[in-house]
Amino acid sequence: MTDKKYLEYKDKIQNKLKEYFDEYKKDSSYSSKIWDSMAYTTLLDGKRLRAVMTLETGKVFGAKEEVLMPSACSMEIMHAYSLIHDDLPCMDNDDLRRGKPSNHKVFGEAIAVLAGDALIPFGAQLIIEKTPSFVSEKLLLEIANDYLKTAGALGIVAGQTADIEAENKKIDIENLKYIHKYKTGALFKCSILTGAKLANANKNIINKLSEYSDNFGILFQVYDDIIDATLTTQELGKTSGKDALENKMTYVTMYGTEKSKNIFYSLIDKNHAILDEVGIKSDIFEYIYEILKNKLI
Ligand code: IPE
Ligand code: IPE
Ligand code: MG
Ligand code: MG
Ligand code: MG
Repeated sequence: MTDKKYLEYKDKIQNKLKEYFDEYKKDSSYSSKIWDSMAYTTLLDGKRLRAVMTLETGKVFGAKEEVLMPSACSMEIMHAYSLIHDDLPCMDNDDLRRGKPSNHKVFGEAIAVLAGDALIPFGAQLIIEKTPSFVSEKLLLEIANDYLKTAGALGIVAGQTADIEAENKKIDIENLKYIHKYKTGALFKCSILTGAKLANANKNIINKLSEYSDNFGILFQVYDDIIDATLTTQELGKTSGKDALENKMTYVTMYGTEKSKNIFYSLIDKNHAILDEVGIKSDIFEYIYEILKNKLI
């Protein structure tokens, strides 16, 4: 049942993203390539965790889907920007993403850089232009500001900078937690809190979900570090063993696979306790943990 509900969410997100790209690319006579490049990575098959989390959190607190959908799609757009730039030769240098050639392998490096650049304001634009007008301007400003903060040097870029700075170095756990909190956790936090804020959830709930998101960001990147070392390129849809190849410090290099798995599971336990505390029940959040756990077996 839950898998069906999850797939329905995914389909709706995919259709809406397609619709937005089709609508906005219309006026691009000499620059259609940029829209092809932006749409290429965004529309390839990803898990859509971030958008699903915005939709599900918002719904749990009573928001309508039409209010949540533009922001949910924007989270995937921000995610796609981060993936395109992350794969560039000057970053992680990965030729494969979501089981297909990376953006720069198809469109060249210059267009890939521009596509990442263009996706960031496009997501903010969708939040502003496509959220129904009965949502207050004050709330919309907060949602758009959260989005922009997350995309830049107070969010993903902070983490990616620290990640690049840490290559070929031995860093401590605080440094590693910082990397994971920002390069990965910031967008999950934005996705979850955007859903809650659009549903007018109270301050106490926002604080608890903020803690939940911080835990989720770490456990998700721990999961990603483990599968990088344990799954094949085909299973991953991105190059296996890339972290070791690029001399990245990860939870696996710091603690080994088994201890990393324990950390992953103990953060899930902490998150269950947080949801119990605020009285939230969501089969979709449970299902997301199942998706991740199944890859670690
Ligand atoms: C990959 O994220 C990038 C990280 C933050 C580790 P996902 O594993 O969610 O990628 P997709 O969206 O399913 O392709
Ligand atoms: C992901 O970290 C961080 C991003 C902001 C994309 P990774 O570099 O480990 O992500 P993958 O493994 O390439 O998806
Ligand atoms: Mg990276
Ligand atoms: Mg990478
Ligand atoms: Mg990785």
